[in-house]
Amino acid sequence: MNQPVMGGVANVNAPSYVQQQKLINWVAEIASLTKPARIYWCDGSQEEYDHLCAEMVARGTMKKLNSAKRPNSFLACSDPTDVARVEDRTFICSNDEKDAGPTNNWTEPAQMRTTLNGLFDGCMQGRTMYVVPFSMGPLGSPIAHIGVELSDSAYVAVNMRVMTRMGKAVYDVLGTEGEFVPCVHSVGAPLKPGAADVAWPCNATKYIVHFPETREIWSYGSGYGGNALLGKKCFALRIASSMGRKQGWLAEHMLILGVESPAGKKHYVAAAFPSACGKTNFAMLIPPAGFEGWKVTTIGDDIAWIKPGADGRLYAINPEAGYFGVAPGTNQKTNFNCMASLASDTIFTNVALTDDGDVWWEGLSKEAPAHLIDWQGKDWTPEIAKETGRKAAHPNARFTVAATQNPVLDPAWDDPAGVPISAFIFGGRRSTTVPLVTEARNWVDGVYMAATMGSETTAAAAGQMGVVRRDPFAMLPFVGYNMSDYFQHWLQMGEQITASGATVPKIFCVNWFRTDENGKFVWPGFGDNMRVLKWMLDRIDNKADGVEHFFGTTPRFADLTWDGMDFTPAQFERITSIDAAAWEAEMKLHTELFDKLHFHLPKELTDVKARLEAQLSV
Ligand code: GTP
Ligand code: SPV
Ligand code: MN
Repeated sequence: MNQPVMGGVANVNAPSYVQQQKLINWVAEIASLTKPARIYWCDGSQEEYDHLCAEMVARGTMKKLNSAKRPNSFLACSDPTDVARVEDRTFICSNDEKDAGPTNNWTEPAQMRTTLNGLFDGCMQGRTMYVVPFSMGPLGSPIAHIGVELSDSAYVAVNMRVMTRMGKAVYDVLGTEGEFVPCVHSVGAPLKPGAADVAWPCNATKYIVHFPETREIWSYGSGYGGNALLGKKCFALRIASSMGRKQGWLAEHMLILGVESPAGKKHYVAAAFPSACGKTNFAMLIPPAGFEGWKVTTIGDDIAWIKPGADGRLYAINPEAGYFGVAPGTNQKTNFNCMASLASDTIFTNVALTDDGDVWWEGLSKEAPAHLIDWQGKDWTPEIAKETGRKAAHPNARFTVAATQNPVLDPAWDDPAGVPISAFIFGGRRSTTVPLVTEARNWVDGVYMAATMGSETTAAAAGQMGVVRRDPFAMLPFVGYNMSDYFQHWLQMGEQITASGATVPKIFCVNWFRTDENGKFVWPGFGDNMRVLKWMLDRIDNKADGVEHFFGTTPRFADLTWDGMDFTPAQFERITSIDAAAWEAEMKLHTELFDKLHFHLPKELTDVKARLEAQLSV
């Protein structure tokens, strides 16, 4: 904390352990553009974290929670206009527009650079520029990649320490010549001399920009989540997916979990659900009554990097080191392991504050406390909520917590070799149409299912909620290149696995979210999703049956294990029935998607579509 104030652009006061001149030059270059009052080089230590948090408490950015209830934990409340990812302000600036594809916003790179230079000129005035070195993946592992984020937000610096391997040791791996992804972030709120700061500075103008060819990230105007913690969606998905395409691997919006049977047989599966559709919960699942002896463990809850191993199989690692998870809906019953993770050392953002200095959110307890301070700092009571509909916590309120606090963290979560994947699961949030679970006939059909997946939009992204949109592979907002090329890459990975003599992972499609006539979820979800997971494992081991229909195989009532649960065949029918009319309508949406993606769309997928349409019409 005793680093000297920056003495001018030429001298950025890099600590002696920073050996790379290219990095120092870049820091100097960005400092001369953004003109911060000082530069602070993060070392990633606990003392530094504590100090930055204390400074934010003093400035009003964070509140310290009651240490007796929630030790070493904080609450940050954002500006009400800066609460989620901004997909319409996210850009993939490849040299050729075709490489960004029709699902991404694109601007010609030189033009975007002119815009960014204008925005970033002097944008850090009066503020500290934090130099945040981080590794996505275990430090020094051959599959890890390094980034350095320059940010004028201390909130970003402390969150990055939890979410990534952040700190001084990164510079040892980087050495004098190592490569890093440069990430520039500003909240876009320069402080005039003597002017008072606000608790959550940000700017109405927002740009989240990626240059895939030069592997750069520039983010302006937001301090929230994926907009600002640039190791996550920007690097580990958008930039990494584009690297993976060139280098023959996959960067996916997937959780990775381990599941072990009472007999000790262990599988790892990876599952892609869109934002706020259940990844964190599935990754920490507790097997329900009737599944004694089964164990589910977490490798990761949001992002998977997947590479072919020497044996031809696919191996996955979690490039992150923490969870930035959805708070609302999380409680002791739905996700006990998550609640245990949040017992201490957690940063909460946009949840409500209780009168005794703890946190609360919708769904944490059946009964809301009699009085709260809501995420916008206003008094909140259940009566006010009833009258106005005002939520105590923002629907996209989140917690930031280290993976090591998860009681069911898999022993291999940090293994640079990754874990072998037995199955891929794709799941959307659909109140109708899509059955509880379907096994794809083969890899190509599975890629088709994932590519055409629809899901109702959630609060994780700014914009209208609850609208069904196509979200291929749960990657619509995160693919750093042309979506059709991405499909082709998946098909090609399948061919490569088969050619190597290994078996391709099975592909399944799930939907936990079918509703009844009252809009209530029919399937209890959460721990009971284990019943579906077990069926999938049994299918892998050729031990379970199901009924084949036009797009795959779905279990009949008798094919699932119902021990410890009351669920009737009639209820099961509601969540597994396939309505031909609904599917005809659904296929029209596939057509719309494929029309949009016609450029480079793999013929294999249009062939599957033609086959499905023919089967539906008989
Ligand atoms: P991101 O972090 O945005 O990528 O979200 P996620 O995919 O990790 O979703 P998460 O597990 O945080 O769940 C989002 C919301 O869905 C929470 O409110 C959960 O309580 C709810 N949810 C998760 N799993 C289930 C389920 O099986 N059934 C039902 N009904 N709700 C679920
Ligand atoms: C998501 O939106 O999928 C998230 C949250 O995981 S954020 O980090 O904001 O992208
Ligand atoms: Mn996510």
